[in-house]
Amino acid sequence: MRIAVDVVRCRPASSIYRGASFPQWVSQSEVARYDNRTRETDIGIKRPSQLRPNDDSSHTFGLPPGKALTAPDSPRIALVTGGTRGIGTEIARGLVREGIIVHLTGRDGEKAVGVAAELARETGGAVTGHELEVTDGEAAQILVDEIRAQHGRIDVLVNNAAVELDLEGSALKADLDGVRIMLETNLIAPWRLIQLVAPGMLDHGYGRIVNVTTGLAQFERMADRRRDDHYPGHAGYRISKAALNALTALVAGELRDSSVLVNASDPGYCRTEMGAPFAPFSASEGAEVTIHLATIDENGPTAGWFFQRLPKTW
Ligand SMILES: NC(=O)c1ccc[n+]([C@@H]2O[C@H](COP(=O)([O-])OP(=O)(O)OC[C@H]3O[C@@H](n4cnc5c(N)ncnc54)[C@H](OP(=O)(O)O)[C@@H]3O)[C@@H](O)[C@H]2O)c1
Repeated sequence: MRIAVDVVRCRPASSIYRGASFPQWVSQSEVARYDNRTRETDIGIKRPSQLRPNDDSSHTFGLPPGKALTAPDSPRIALVTGGTRGIGTEIARGLVREGIIVHLTGRDGEKAVGVAAELARETGGAVTGHELEVTDGEAAQILVDEIRAQHGRIDVLVNNAAVELDLEGSALKADLDGVRIMLETNLIAPWRLIQLVAPGMLDHGYGRIVNVTTGLAQFERMADRRRDDHYPGHAGYRISKAALNALTALVAGELRDSSVLVNASDPGYCRTEMGAPFAPFSASEGAEVTIHLATIDENGPTAGWFFQRLPKTW
């Protein structure tokens, strides 16, 4: 697969797209395959060589919107937030190794591009880095529109980006301004992205949504101080993630009879900036459950919460 690295800064005034001509992520062999298919079927499919950025029909290779996208051999398209370091980078790495075209985001656009370049070089896959402050709703909309303009759809959404601002915070003493930021970042932003991508997933008959939460948000673990794994503090963070768990269950319930599977993942305590150097799991080990849930087949679970592939109680 040809390496594709780019940056999209998702600001309305300065939205830019730099890079090779569209579709840079399509490999020579895919181009040949589609060209052959065009010749074989003669149903008017536009060849990739004829496609241009923002060409309305480019996303479907000339077929009516929504039709070509379900082709069994077309690569899946994933959006991973918070992919610039830690578990998010490992999720992106794992997905691109699965042959998925990955769009990763971070607040620092240059860093996102750098990480994407590194992953693309290492894997030979297609990875694009984007600047995205997830709490910026307008920017999120622009990014989703840009990815859809390029590929026609988003198949996989991983809501990984999060902040943890109250390491020692008790619920009784929590700084509510900090709590508000965590709710905006860890709950509202994923919620908005789900609203932006889920309708398209339903239209195309395929979707995987994974919300990265934390074992600290488990209700019984928060409530029972006698438990071995009871852990004090982090009130705002835990409440934001418990709410993200509730969102996972609600959205999965609403999409229950569809092909969109919605789950939450718990990476465990990991050696990342948010975690600690002495944590038991590497970022890559923490990412594994999310990669699994993002790639499950149609018989996979929905409305679940998983740690190391094992279901957890909420
Ligand atoms: N580490 C653990 O032990 C642990 C345990 C359980 C759950 N988790 C969860 O796992 C996920 C990843 O954690 P991690 O340890 O890898 O965290 P991390 O090292 O702090 O990375 C967080 C990522 O989120 C991005 N981010 C944060 N705020 C953002 C914002 N407002 N807009 C856009 N991007 C933002 C960061 O990008 P920039 O700062 O570059 O923008 C970074 O890429 C989180 O959801 C976390 O809650 C972690």
